[in-house]
Amino acid sequence: MKQSASVLAHALFEGRLFYVAPGSCPSIMNFDREKRMTNKPAPTAVAIHDLIAGRWSPRAYSSKPVSREHLQSVLEAARWAPSSYNAQPWRFLVFDRSVDEVSFKQAFATLVPFNQGWNAPAPVLIAVTTHTLTNKGDVNRCAAYDAGAAAMSLVLQAHALGLAAHQMSGFDPNAFRTAFKLPSDVEVIAIISLGHYGDVEKLDPVLREREKSVRQRLPLADIAYGGGWKAAF
Ligand SMILES: Cc1cc2nc3c(=O)[nH]c(=O)nc-3n(C[C@H](O)[C@H](O)[C@H](O)COP(=O)(O)O)c2cc1C
Repeated sequence: MKQSASVLAHALFEGRLFYVAPGSCPSIMNFDREKRMTNKPAPTAVAIHDLIAGRWSPRAYSSKPVSREHLQSVLEAARWAPSSYNAQPWRFLVFDRSVDEVSFKQAFATLVPFNQGWNAPAPVLIAVTTHTLTNKGDVNRCAAYDAGAAAMSLVLQAHALGLAAHQMSGFDPNAFRTAFKLPSDVEVIAIISLGHYGDVEKLDPVLREREKSVRQRLPLADIAYGGGWKAAF
């Protein structure tokens, strides 16, 4: 079978054959003119939409503020996420350094030291919280699922706008709860940093290598079963 050079390049990578859409860039990462890595396409086994394949979790931010228009756009994308009974249990707390540095610093202080390190220049943090109870006071077992769906919409919209977004569970939820006086039925699940891509070369060497490494996932056969637990799909 005749293979194009780009398919062959991926075939040789890690000894596995990855699908490369006709005309797509065979490179595993794209650098722009200012050495910013704006795209890190997943080496997918079959073709998926560019937006989903290209979204990734960068750690190199510039300190350039995010425009109000872009902030509204990513939040609007989250707003239109689906949810069980259309309950929309998610609530987002936006910390924009250029608007309110005091609350930004309070939120930043709840991040674990590792996350504080690479987020030092990040201009925006968005806390993803969810109402854990329904209007009737019952436990909403889909609350976290729905908030996760909204967060995914948010980061996909950020990627579509050319912004960098990185979700984090590495923060102290109790410290966050206290600092921002969360109601008892509200859980804070994640904090998303949002900003413009920065120069990868300014990251420390370990993170720089991780930034350039190929994105990894379990094989499809490990995550999709057909008709029964662990049955082959
Ligand atoms: C809920 C959640 C929590 C995460 N927490 C952190 C974190 O605290 N620090 C971090 O550097 N990355 C964090 N990540 C990023 C993951 O490490 C990343 O999504 C994963 O390695 C896959 O990489 P990709 O998003 O580039 O495909 C988190 C991601 C999610 C979805």
